[in-house]
Amino acid sequence: MKPTTIGMTLAVVCTLATSAYAQAFDWAAAQEQFERYCAPCHGSTGAGDGDLGAALRRQPRDFTDCADMAKSSDDVLFNAIKNGGEPVDGQQSDMPAMRKSLSDDEIRALVLRVRQFCLPKGGISIAHQRESGLGK
Ligand code: HEC
Repeated sequence: MKPTTIGMTLAVVCTLATSAYAQAFDWAAAQEQFERYCAPCHGSTGAGDGDLGAALRRQPRDFTDCADMAKSSDDVLFNAIKNGGEPVDGQQSDMPAMRKSLSDDEIRALVLRVRQFCLPKGGISIAHQRESGLGK
């Protein structure tokens, strides 16, 4: 392995290891579920630009807005995915509750999948890489 590859691997492992949600993380499974259950509204890029999302009264959260996402704890995201948008902010929201479709472990993995849109990868966030055309 090249030193940069080792560095990047360590960075990802360390970032995930500091999260209480890390244990449940299976990238491939989380990615598949994100595409199936979340991308229609939140978009494959996480930017909240899925086809279904465009029709909603209130736009889906933009997971690539890292300053905004940093304001929500993992528990807030977990609760939003499990119980839907309404209990999170007390407002009517189209974010569906996933508790009937997904186990708690699967929801924890999705929290990490969502976080990944703002995780540094070699010092550059995935969102930034995408903007600059690198992350494709
Ligand atoms: C039908 C469209 C729709 C689908 C499908 C959907 N979402 Fe959402 N989501 C929304 C909307 C709309 C909001 C904004 C809710 C709000 O702020 O009240 C949102 C908000 C969120 C939030 C942020 C809650 C907060 O304000 O802190 C998270 C996290 C989230 N969604 C994760 C997911 C995940 C993970 C999936 C797939 C399992 C998913 N969503 C599927 C529409 C959707």
